[in-house]
Amino acid sequence: MITKIVSKKFDIPESYKLEVAQKNGAYGSLKRLFTMTPDEVITEVDKSKLRGKGGGGALCGPKWRYMPTNDPRPAYLIVNADESEPGTFKDREVMDKDPHLLIEGIICSSYAMNIHTAYIYIRGEYKWLADRLNTAIDEAYEAGIIGETLMNGACDFKLDIVVHRGAGAYICGEKSALIESLEGKRGHPRLKPHQKECEWYFGNPATVNNVETIASVPHIIENGYEGYTQYGTEKSPGTMLFALSGPVKNPGVYELAYGLKMIDVINTLGGGMKEGKKLKAVIPGGVSCPILTREEAENAVLDYESMWDIGSTLGTGGMVIIDEDACMVEVAKNIIEFYHHESCGQCTPCREGTGWIDKILHDVVTQQGKLSDIQTISDVCNTLNGKTICVFAPAVADIIGSIVVKFKDEFEAYILGGQAISSKEL
Ligand SMILES: Cc1cc2nc3c(=O)[nH]c(=O)nc-3n(C[C@H](O)[C@H](O)[C@H](O)COP(=O)(O)O)c2cc1C
Ligand code: SF4
Repeated sequence: MITKIVSKKFDIPESYKLEVAQKNGAYGSLKRLFTMTPDEVITEVDKSKLRGKGGGGALCGPKWRYMPTNDPRPAYLIVNADESEPGTFKDREVMDKDPHLLIEGIICSSYAMNIHTAYIYIRGEYKWLADRLNTAIDEAYEAGIIGETLMNGACDFKLDIVVHRGAGAYICGEKSALIESLEGKRGHPRLKPHQKECEWYFGNPATVNNVETIASVPHIIENGYEGYTQYGTEKSPGTMLFALSGPVKNPGVYELAYGLKMIDVINTLGGGMKEGKKLKAVIPGGVSCPILTREEAENAVLDYESMWDIGSTLGTGGMVIIDEDACMVEVAKNIIEFYHHESCGQCTPCREGTGWIDKILHDVVTQQGKLSDIQTISDVCNTLNGKTICVFAPAVADIIGSIVVKFKDEFEAYILGGQAISSKEL
């Protein structure tokens, strides 16, 4: 069931060390990379249909083509290692177990876009991983893999890699807020232009990609796009690091080809539900996406198109499993507290809406709720859609709105009974 592309070296002891990594194939893609032109590299990635693994699922090849060519300004690659989405802990595995794969991916991607400086923006809480990355980067400099040339002069291409630690704000995972933060400013998302274009770092062209996206590139370069499209489905080729969390017997990160049934993954790799409990719901891609009921989860297929078809999304691949004992009112309260705290506050619907829903749910869980609150929460969710600078607010509407609609009976029972009611008691 597992397909190892990015996680190939995860089980090898001390694979984070250069010597061990190189014995196991690290930097193997560079031989072919140096025979290719930058344009050929982008074409290869384009044909692989590699999608961004940070949550949005944007195709990587077309995105790289937004970078201007023959532009005198320096260009930048910014690797998004903010990994703040609840239920998401896959990039951590890459940086912990195979930092040299990430460096190799940065080399391939920088070469493709004529970039000579790459930043890895890592969440502040991942201090030990920032240290691990810096050690690996130091090793790569000392071995002549990066620096003034690549692979000790095998390619006359200068590349520097710098790790930058964030300071604990969820919103700094949003690419434009991340760049603001990297520029030394408050991490506020920027207004987006109507036309698609690259990002801008101090007015210079930049591309932001997730850790796992970049770590997927060496396999594509080494094996050609067919080496990637042979896995997964026609429209969602390749693999993704799926994270399972919650009351399953074996939570963890598993690399899977797209197209598997969610329930099979939960029951086999996940080992099924703990203590023989019944599955109640799954939030499939970190918490910023619509929840699935048990029936929906039992039929769900883990690829982008299948998830969109059932009104949700694959997001970050972080599956949050919920069992029959959970009270969905309290699940919603827990989630809205997070969003209320993390809203950057620039947009009124988001700043006020997250606080308002938090207050209503506080009333409900403190026996002060009324039945009309259910409709009010849905109404507030409607004000969050399409009216804000970034998609943080629509994501709140997705998850909170879907919980309220799909588990309305639990909200009613809670309000009328004044206490948590699990689905068993309804
Ligand atoms: C509120 C918010 C938080 C985000 N957090 C992350 C994150 O922690 N890591 C990440 O890679 N992308 C995150 N994203 C998505 C990024 O904005 C961006 O789309 C992504 O880094 C692009 O890389 P990819 O195309 O390789 O996925 C977030 C987006 C939003 C709206
Ligand atoms: S939607 Fe929320 S998080 Fe995003 S910019 Fe507006 S206030 Fe900030």
